[in-house]
Amino acid sequence: MSAPSFWLRCETKQFERRAALTPTTAKKLIDAGFEIVVERDDQRIFDDAEYEAVGCKLVENNSWPNAPANMPILGLKELPESDEPIKHTHIHFGHCYKQQAGWSTFLSRFHRGGGTLYDLEFLTDAYGRRVAAFGYHAGFAGAAAGALAVAANKKDEPLGLLEPYLNENAMVEDVKQKLGGSGKGLKALVIGALGRCGRGAVDLLRKVGLEEDDILKWDMAETAKGGPFQEILDVDIFVNCIYLSTPIPHFLTHETIRNAGQSRRLSVVVDVSCDTTNPHNPIPIYSINTTFSQPTVPVDVGAGNSPMSVISIDHLPTLLPREASEQFSSDLLPSLLEFRQRETARVWTDAEKLYKQKLAEAVQAEGL
Ligand SMILES: NC(=O)c1ccc[n+]([C@@H]2O[C@H](COP(=O)([O-])OP(=O)(O)OC[C@H]3O[C@@H](n4cnc5c(N)ncnc54)[C@H](O)[C@@H]3O)[C@@H](O)[C@H]2O)c1
Repeated sequence: MSAPSFWLRCETKQFERRAALTPTTAKKLIDAGFEIVVERDDQRIFDDAEYEAVGCKLVENNSWPNAPANMPILGLKELPESDEPIKHTHIHFGHCYKQQAGWSTFLSRFHRGGGTLYDLEFLTDAYGRRVAAFGYHAGFAGAAAGALAVAANKKDEPLGLLEPYLNENAMVEDVKQKLGGSGKGLKALVIGALGRCGRGAVDLLRKVGLEEDDILKWDMAETAKGGPFQEILDVDIFVNCIYLSTPIPHFLTHETIRNAGQSRRLSVVVDVSCDTTNPHNPIPIYSINTTFSQPTVPVDVGAGNSPMSVISIDHLPTLLPREASEQFSSDLLPSLLEFRQRETARVWTDAEKLYKQKLAEAVQAEGL
């Protein structure tokens, strides 16, 4: 019998430097008897040589379509757009189970090729919690971007290109420096503060020097009274980190912003949750996802009022690629080790059941 294997493919999304498998976790899999194939990738934060050094087999960039049919292909973000049938087993974030744009067309490629998708977003433990998620570093980086935008607003400049940092410390130091040495004096409100993203956002705000009392931490209890919330207008930075699962009253609207007029303190909204196109987005004051090259979008605040912007970047952990990858990959490792028993291991059988259900919906939607 051949050794259990994973093929780490390259990422093709612009600015994406993270990896689902790091040299550290690749070594642990190799030590457990796995064969690990890694596509050469200049974009990845980890050098090809780091994988080679721990015993991975290096192959051409983007060569997974020619991998043996029984080779599981591991990645993070979506595959490049194509009509090609998919014959492999893929493990990545498919972003196709909540009827996102193009969901059924993408899944129909698996139907035609006979492949399988195990969506990383839906690998859960016995309590239904995700086994691995990038939330903490998304919140951490989102709050950093928000603080940088406040610093830029103070100079009447738009926030320019955001680029991945070498590590957390470099990010914290850069934010402090742009804020003139410290974030002391700024006020922030984090909603969803008890979650992964929320905890990361609060930690960044502490590390750049905001006073503890100036970081308002809200979760379900505080929003139960129903929005919109005046409290959001009274801080410099609002970081939204909720997991939206049911329709809820708006947190902030154009109307509340305009009515606040010049009494508004709020300068930047960071929508880490990024429910941008969701009809129940609780922050309906913007309609696009922003990018690392143009991180902010201005909000219509009414004539004569001070400007305000939104950051709605949907791949924030990319700003901290090394730490975010290490954390995600080590959280994923126990499940990867179980992959050789995927016919019986609950984490994989549940994910396959969900895949089959979504595939059936896609087949029906596509009329196949
Ligand atoms: N922008 C990005 O790059 C990025 C990266 C990772 C995750 N996300 C998104 O961030 C969101 C949060 O992810 P997470 O992993 O932190 O989730 P999580 O489940 O760990 O935390 C969500 C928190 O929101 C709270 N919450 C839910 N509804 C609320 C409400 N109405 N009022 C107040 N609090 C509420 C929950 O109690 C929980 O504490 C998700 O939508 C996720 O997709 C975005």
